[in-house]
Amino acid sequence: MSGSDLIPEDGIAVFDAYGTLFDVHSAVMRHAAGIGTEAMALSETWRAKQLEYTWTLSLMGRSASFWTLTERALDFALARHPGIDPGIRPKLLGAYRDLDAYPEAAGVIRSLRQRRIATAILSNGDAAMLARAMASAGLDDAFDSVLSVEASGIFKTSPVAYQIVLDRFGVSPGGVVFCSSNRWDVAGAVAFGFSTVWVNRTGLPDEYPDLAPTRIVTSLDGIL
Ligand code: LAC
Repeated sequence: MSGSDLIPEDGIAVFDAYGTLFDVHSAVMRHAAGIGTEAMALSETWRAKQLEYTWTLSLMGRSASFWTLTERALDFALARHPGIDPGIRPKLLGAYRDLDAYPEAAGVIRSLRQRRIATAILSNGDAAMLARAMASAGLDDAFDSVLSVEASGIFKTSPVAYQIVLDRFGVSPGGVVFCSSNRWDVAGAVAFGFSTVWVNRTGLPDEYPDLAPTRIVTSLDGIL
């Protein structure tokens, strides 16, 4: 299947944000020299806990902003890695607000829009986080829509979260191609009925065998 078959001209390409458009490890990496050898472990713990909190709260029927969960996850990660000076906290949170976008992201979105494909973000991130990250990455105005789960009070992989796309565009799930680097997010989108692209940048083994992506690529370029 070529890229143009994957997303037809009247189609809608929807992107996850954190991990897919924005490199979540770039915050720690920017300060890696000051953190030392545990930098990547800190970043992995931070990300894993941030996501765990979204799933546990969603199952409990509780909500919190993604930014609050990002702060709590960093607090856990710093406590879990006591060799790292916790004084780095404000710098890391500052860097997380202004994450690096993956280098190909802007060009891929531009190409899709030139083909008259509607583009959107669907993210667990709250609206303020997303606006700041997009501005600092030079992606403001890049997308037709930036959709946050914030107002729904529940995180992906709840179907309520994916439904936000259908409500915005007035389409059925089959009209949407959802792209994410997060395999759990791809699984949720497949379960909802979207066509999906898993952006497997680091060659991770596949999982969720009953919820396979339509396509697997190694960078966002692969969807074109
Ligand atoms: C997002 C995170 C969870 O939804 O990847 O942007």
